[in-house]
Amino acid sequence: MSAPKKLFIKTYGCQMNVYDSERMAEALGGEGYVETKSPDDADMILLNTCHIREKAAEKVYSELGRFKGLKAEKPDLKIGVAGCVAQAEGQEIMRRQPLVDLVVGPQSYHRLPEMEAKAREGEKVLDTDFPEEDKFEKLKNRPKAKRGPTAFLTVQEGCDKFCAFCVVPYTRGAEVSRPADRILREAQDLVERGVREITLLGQNVNAYHGAGPNGDMTLAQLIWELDKVDGLERIRFTTSHPNDMQDDLIEAHGTCAKLMPYLHLPVQAGSDKILKRMNRAHTAESYLRLIERIRAARPDILISGDFIVGFPEETEADFQATLDLVEEVKYGTAYSFKYSTRPGTPAAERPQVDPAEADDRLQRLQALLTKQQREVQDSMVGRDVTVLFEKVGRFPGQMVGKSDYLHAVHVADCDRAIGDLARVRILSSGANSLAGALID
Ligand code: SAH
Ligand code: SF4
Ligand code: F3S
Repeated sequence: MSAPKKLFIKTYGCQMNVYDSERMAEALGGEGYVETKSPDDADMILLNTCHIREKAAEKVYSELGRFKGLKAEKPDLKIGVAGCVAQAEGQEIMRRQPLVDLVVGPQSYHRLPEMEAKAREGEKVLDTDFPEEDKFEKLKNRPKAKRGPTAFLTVQEGCDKFCAFCVVPYTRGAEVSRPADRILREAQDLVERGVREITLLGQNVNAYHGAGPNGDMTLAQLIWELDKVDGLERIRFTTSHPNDMQDDLIEAHGTCAKLMPYLHLPVQAGSDKILKRMNRAHTAESYLRLIERIRAARPDILISGDFIVGFPEETEADFQATLDLVEEVKYGTAYSFKYSTRPGTPAAERPQVDPAEADDRLQRLQALLTKQQREVQDSMVGRDVTVLFEKVGRFPGQMVGKSDYLHAVHVADCDRAIGDLARVRILSSGANSLAGALID
């Protein structure tokens, strides 16, 4: 038998790319590839890319440039670009960087084995179709290897919302939900391989409407089915859109013990004028009322968000409305970005905010969000949480895991194993994590 070929995958962007990279590694595993941690000894390099902001897309070209030397030394090395830059730029990637052999969009990963074979024969291959078949069903080539305690599971992909700044509807295509039975089978398989916590993924995960035994199911109904899976202890989901936050999902946060008290609910901005121009189809007020209803169902829920500052035509008063909204919500964690012009999206053509002004707003927003994040984290001190241990710590006897609220927690003198759950009393709050002790 010949030695296995080596595959190096580098993943950028969101959690869906992390999930997709695992699936690509499995698909190529069937072709005799094993993963390697370094590009230097690889027979194939795949960059799984992100197109969400200009910087993310540009990173790909600088990374590709660095492989020039490797390719010169090793002419058999094949280089592929996958993910959202592949979808958005297609052929252009090979024009700009001729060392690329293969370009594959997010909906065509099940065709990778054929594409790899063609690339091996010296062909340049490109596939950025949106095929009818279910790529996940065709990507079933899974070895039964043991896994860590947490895993992602894609349940929905694509987006029909067309926010005026966003490339996702173009790179991931129309919104599609996977049938419930396939998701449940995959969840069962993950649990058999050691997984205790599953994060359901979708660009618009709460718009989930996959086929079930009695017609389409909602995300809450899917969560209740997963709740029955023995050995699965925790369920999370991301990312949600405020307009798809249905009553049954809000209610599940109060009644489903496996559903964790953490919700990522991006709002993007606090000014109704800007929200309208972003095509968000909700107002600051409707978002705040929604948060109120969610907190009524689950008072201790930790709320997370995404923000864009410097969106075209954002004035200082508009920005102030974002700060006001943040003050009112009190976020446990948040991601904030300076608006980045994406060619082909509606907002790209509009009058842009002065970049220095946008930088200044981003700094002010981040200062406020960091302060809130710290306050929420500090408020955990003295409370008891459940921790799922994910790895050993830096010190002997120390274990590190995540609380129900997704805070990293360090526990000293811990006799538990990776994958165990334990009750922990929080003793102190550090820069980015909590420390606690086991409660006997
Ligand atoms: N589907 C998710 C996330 C989309 S991308 C959602 O609807 O919320 C993740 C985040 O990137 C977005 O929430 C937004 O805050 C940010 N983002 C998207 N496009 C951007 C752009 N052109 N410039 C800056 N930030 C952007
Ligand atoms: Fe992008 Fe808006 Fe869709 Fe989220 S809801 S993926 S921000 S278009
Ligand atoms: Fe980026 Fe595509 Fe995810 S643009 S954020 S990798 S959906």
